[in-house]
Amino acid sequence: MSRSFTITCTYAAFAARIIGSKRVGGHHDMERRKVLILHGPNLNLTGFREPELYGKKPLAEIDEDIHRAADEYGMEVRILQSNHEGVLIDTIQEHRKWADAIVVNPGALTHYSYALRDALVSVRIPVVEVHLTNVQSREEFRRVSVVSPICVGTIAGFGSNSYILALQALKTTEVGAI
Ligand code: DQA
Repeated sequence: MSRSFTITCTYAAFAARIIGSKRVGGHHDMERRKVLILHGPNLNLTGFREPELYGKKPLAEIDEDIHRAADEYGMEVRILQSNHEGVLIDTIQEHRKWADAIVVNPGALTHYSYALRDALVSVRIPVVEVHLTNVQSREEFRRVSVVSPICVGTIAGFGSNSYILALQALKTTEVGAI
């Protein structure tokens, strides 16, 4: 069973790409972990943008894979991509009571956005940081993540599979540990 959903962003809602959410039939709400998945700036161009680094798969297909994995793991996901820091922050705040966990690929915001980091801390929800590429093996400025220190863990370097591995981690890690 699936249903579509809309996130109302306080600012620049027009800029947000809302992809949707999926429910898994047969599970009670209490049993499904609700995961907010965020893609930051420029990730909407995945597939086109430097495919030798970020892969050839368009974001829409990556999101389909995420929905499929979430179904398999009995999770409910909401996915949003935005090029706007404020929209990402609004979305995090709006999901304060909904989300059990957040999976975020902050794109370049990873390396300097204290505002995004503060938002993630403020909502007191476990966060998994995800990157398509291994940021540690790239340019110097990408080796710094201002988000990592407040995350449960980071998964980087496995292309779009990084998102699936993050869901797996949330699924298989003991609740108390996250
Ligand atoms: C990225 C790595 C960032 O350094 C970069 O700015 C991105 C994508 C990744 O997924 O590998 O936009 O987060």
